[in-house]
Amino acid sequence: MPVSRRDFVAGALASVLATTGCAVREDAPRASNTAFPAGIASGDPTHGSVVLWTHTPPVNREPGQQRPVAVRWFVASDDELGTIVQSGLVLAHAEHYYCVHVDVDGLSPATGYWYWFETEGQLSALGRTKTLPEPGRPCGEFTFALVSCQDYSAGYFTAYRDIAGRRPDLVVHVGDYIYETPGGSVRPHPVDEPVTLNDYRSLYRLYRSDPDLQRARAELPWLQIWDDHEVVNDWGRDHYLPSHYNKPLPIETYPQRKAAAQRAFAEFTPLSRRKRELLATRGVRDRRIIGDLLELNFLDVRQFRDPPVCELDEKNHFEPCEDVHLPDRSLLGHDQERWLQHRFGQSQCRWNGLVQTTVMAPIRMNAAEGLKYEADAWDNYAAARDRLVTHMIQQEVPNLVSFAGNIHAYYAGTYPASNGSRSTAITELVTTSISASGGGQKRYDGFHRLHAGNGMSQFFDNRHHGYLHVNVTADDILATPVTVETRQRGAIAALPAWRVASGTPGITT
Ligand SMILES: [Fe+2]
Repeated sequence: MPVSRRDFVAGALASVLATTGCAVREDAPRASNTAFPAGIASGDPTHGSVVLWTHTPPVNREPGQQRPVAVRWFVASDDELGTIVQSGLVLAHAEHYYCVHVDVDGLSPATGYWYWFETEGQLSALGRTKTLPEPGRPCGEFTFALVSCQDYSAGYFTAYRDIAGRRPDLVVHVGDYIYETPGGSVRPHPVDEPVTLNDYRSLYRLYRSDPDLQRARAELPWLQIWDDHEVVNDWGRDHYLPSHYNKPLPIETYPQRKAAAQRAFAEFTPLSRRKRELLATRGVRDRRIIGDLLELNFLDVRQFRDPPVCELDEKNHFEPCEDVHLPDRSLLGHDQERWLQHRFGQSQCRWNGLVQTTVMAPIRMNAAEGLKYEADAWDNYAAARDRLVTHMIQQEVPNLVSFAGNIHAYYAGTYPASNGSRSTAITELVTTSISASGGGQKRYDGFHRLHAGNGMSQFFDNRHHGYLHVNVTADDILATPVTVETRQRGAIAALPAWRVASGTPGITT
């Protein structure tokens, strides 16, 4: 029996109140965790659209039954749910693991909306989302949470509790949304290491069962890119570099495995239809121009990268060799390089950002273990890095900032670049891991011993989990490292904020 909106409002509010710990009426219908076991989400926002997502496996399915499930969706413009501005009906198919993506267009810029789903008489929780400011129009302030590296087995996703409570305009995830192998023993994984499509799907289901992650997905719009662990450690276009914890699988199995991992990523991520269709050929690259304030270029540093050329040790670390300067080698792939160079910095925005997984400066991240670089890093693609910064210098792109993750440490600094008489510097702001291991005091001491006063590194701290809360105005960027304990109901604190003043690369604290 369909649920009336009046019933829905009571149920949805009950669900929200339950989430926030407030009193709930005894007789209020509740949102169904059975019909929506992975929650709801919104993502891929523009100034006029957003993608709504959910996953609705049939509740009373007969064995082998494959029939589609009808799912109704609703978008309201007020939190009383008095004005439904759009609604529709979609079918969830077994072929897509009953994941539902709805492209909602025709929305107003910089505007909050409320949304929900209904299927087979069951209601989802009430979600909240927001569109981006219109490109080129005045925008006084924009706030986002920069997040990375969430290992379910290593700890609880406490950071998302704080993020949901603070309500930034956007969540920017720079990869390692899942880990293919468990790095901890706090919460078990369902499979040792995923290989098949169903393996990867079961991991996404598991990760999305975390209540803090569910809340942050339901109540905030996300834009995300992938890193390596969504597929397998250190993967690239046609290669990967297994770690000691990966299964020794023949390389011939890699294309099929990569396709399975990417399909599960697309199924569980609110991406637009166009982005999902082009995922295999364009990767996760994308661009958003936020008012007149901030341009964000989301880079795919995995899908098109060439294999490493220097000799790797057993940890996939290397000493640079001459071949990192080979001009035809690329981290982004030549097509993505052209895409980036074609428009980057043409937007007239005050700030021009790269969103990527990797740090640009030649920093030895695991200095405690020796003087080697990681195979992931831009250092393995020195000529490609030179091409990128040369372009930025030639185009005189102002206020360059790289927002990154991947290294399981807070890091801030500058990457200097010069070309004859011209010079510039990219400010690097890097978030730590949501829960994945940061390597402890030995790594912290080793980094500071090696990099103190090198002119690039201004901040490094791998001893915390958490996220970076980024507030952007015309005058400055204020980035606050918010630290968390990754146990149930873990404590939340903050380190002193980093300030980047417009026109002056680097941070002050
Ligand atoms: Fe990671």
